[in-house]
Amino acid sequence: MSSWVKGLVYLLSALVCVGHLPAPLPTINTCIFDDIEPPDVLQKRQTYAHTQDVLREAGTHSHIPDVLQRSGTYSHTEDVSEGTRRTSDRTKRNTQTSDRARRNSRDLFQPLRITTWFHNIGSELGRAEQDSLRAVVQEAVGRITRALAVVPVQGPLVLGRNFTEICKFAVAANQPNAGKCSVAKTTYRGEICIAEFLIPDEHLEGFATWADTGDTPVQVLYTDGAGVADTDYILYVTAATTTRCQNDHSILAYASYCQLDQNNRPTAGYTNFCPVQLQGPGFDRDKFVMTAIHELLHALGFSKQLYGKFKDCSSSADPTSCPDRRDVVETRYGMNRITTPTVLNRTQQHFRCSWTDFGGPLEDRPTGVSSHWESRLMQGSIMTAKLGPPHLHTIDAVTLAVLEDSGWYRVDYTTAGPLVWGEGQGCTFGTEATCVTSDDWFCLGSSVGCHYLRLDKGRCESDSYLGACRVHKPQPGDECWKESSAPSTLQLELHGESYQEASRCFMSNLIKTGQGGPSSPAGRCYEHRCNSTGVLEVRVQGSPWVRCQFGSSIAIPGYSGLLECPPAGVLCRDVYPPPHTTATATTQADNCPTGNTQHNPPTSPPSCVPPPHTTPSHVTPSPHHCYSYNTG
Ligand SMILES: *[C@@H]1O[C@H](CO)[C@@H](O)[C@H](O)[C@H]1NC(C)=O
Ligand SMILES: *[C@@H]1O[C@H](CO)[C@@H](O)[C@H](O)[C@H]1NC(C)=O
Ligand SMILES: *[C@@H]1O[C@H](CO)[C@@H](O)[C@H](O)[C@H]1NC(C)=O
Repeated sequence: MSSWVKGLVYLLSALVCVGHLPAPLPTINTCIFDDIEPPDVLQKRQTYAHTQDVLREAGTHSHIPDVLQRSGTYSHTEDVSEGTRRTSDRTKRNTQTSDRARRNSRDLFQPLRITTWFHNIGSELGRAEQDSLRAVVQEAVGRITRALAVVPVQGPLVLGRNFTEICKFAVAANQPNAGKCSVAKTTYRGEICIAEFLIPDEHLEGFATWADTGDTPVQVLYTDGAGVADTDYILYVTAATTTRCQNDHSILAYASYCQLDQNNRPTAGYTNFCPVQLQGPGFDRDKFVMTAIHELLHALGFSKQLYGKFKDCSSSADPTSCPDRRDVVETRYGMNRITTPTVLNRTQQHFRCSWTDFGGPLEDRPTGVSSHWESRLMQGSIMTAKLGPPHLHTIDAVTLAVLEDSGWYRVDYTTAGPLVWGEGQGCTFGTEATCVTSDDWFCLGSSVGCHYLRLDKGRCESDSYLGACRVHKPQPGDECWKESSAPSTLQLELHGESYQEASRCFMSNLIKTGQGGPSSPAGRCYEHRCNSTGVLEVRVQGSPWVRCQFGSSIAIPGYSGLLECPPAGVLCRDVYPPPHTTATATTQADNCPTGNTQHNPPTSPPSCVPPPHTTPSHVTPSPHHCYSYNTG
């Protein structure tokens, strides 16, 4: 696409979303145009331990149990028993080598190590804002690395240079140094991620020019960088008011991957946080953590540019060299869906749908393959295009299944949060043909009801992604669990409401006896409790605890009208506890006030490394360059 067409696409898609933003201050339901399409991405071979090494090690030193132990939460019970059997049953080893090698390859996986590299974040952020950004990124990285494992890179991770970009003439094919560069271009500026971030030379391989013959180069233009030790992925983080931030003030952050390894796994990524969003009293730490996780998941693999690069490692002895996975996205039942095996399994399980090609539904607005989940079906997932209040989103198992099916990661599903939306609702849930109704999930009109998780009230609304469907969306002040959201005492008393940690949203038309005629049902906040057998009770101001049988309507002493008990499945299930409203905990990043933080696997504490050497000044994108944003 030519750049002006891209610019037009961007403008149009921005309008689609911005047109639906109600207020100039989008503190809620912020539009995210966040997954940048890199034009072309360099691939560089990395060094990995090979399966054969592990087999050999196991044969001579019985190392397999150690390997399993080190892989900690990533070894499933099944693996452990297989590992035990393997070591105690060595005589049969040679008979089924390839099968064993394949199973053994799973043992190679270790928790993902991400090194975050903050570049120049002090140029636009004050000290406190920098600390906030570091804390946010570290928390996001911590949560991702707990969920994912990879075959670890051996030795330092060193990124590649684009030969075509740097070399003008190569040594002729009939010469001993054939293929090496003989004359370098003078225009080479370095490796730049999505035209914005200049990768530090110390993370890059060197470059030299050569004569036709000879073992030593004629001129070394760049010496080999030291790379980054103990790392599988480098995440570059900046906070600059770029063109992308200026073009759309609702963007919090955006991200892209920068390089891939020989198996297409991203080895470096870049994310920029728009400074204005980190500044001032409106800064919402939890929202930024969720945004950072969302961005990082794009840059690790959940990206429409990467679906086509996924690998099928199900029968490969070497998990760093697998065949391409075909048909990752297919159009089924009028929707683009991810139809890889684990995603199929997880979605079928979640919606309780037996269609074998049901798949993970991708966002259909705007048209085309999306890097986000369909909003109508995947409310609450971290990977929907629009993130609401952070306590209503989670890193769900369907999202993690995409990363597993990329072939690059093993996933610890115990780290996944519960996806409640649409649970067990069958194959036709959440289509525009079925959603125009008022039920436990969708609503009609613009009434005040309850968000489906019952933590908050919500106004019945649609947005650019929901299309014809409407859901109850919480606004600031709708949080039943938050004391500071409570309206005046007088207002509370009329309907017997209370705002506190144990309060949840119930539909009710209760009104204090003698205070007037019946009111119309609306979402209201009442204290709740669950006993150990999962029985729900509610208490309205001044009333005793009253049992609230799921799906029934009950009367409350001292009030006229009824209170509707929610359907089973959300309350008394211990999912979605209200977020902590107390001061935020200190984070690891607080130990690293300047420079960059080496992020180690969760088991070992982080250590601080010195700040980077001063690199050439930040590369600013040319003002005439237009970008295509992934809008959904
Ligand atoms: C390498 O550089 C050439 C020349 O600038 C460019 O056309 C190509 O897209 C680049 N390749 C990658 C993988 O970035
Ligand atoms: C999903 O996978 C699990 C474990 O392999 C299996 O027990 C279950 O039957 C599968 N579910 C579906 C719906 O395919
Ligand atoms: C839970 O409450 C129900 C109804 O009030 C009661 O029948 C049941 O015995 C209670 N269970 C426990 C363990 O207290």
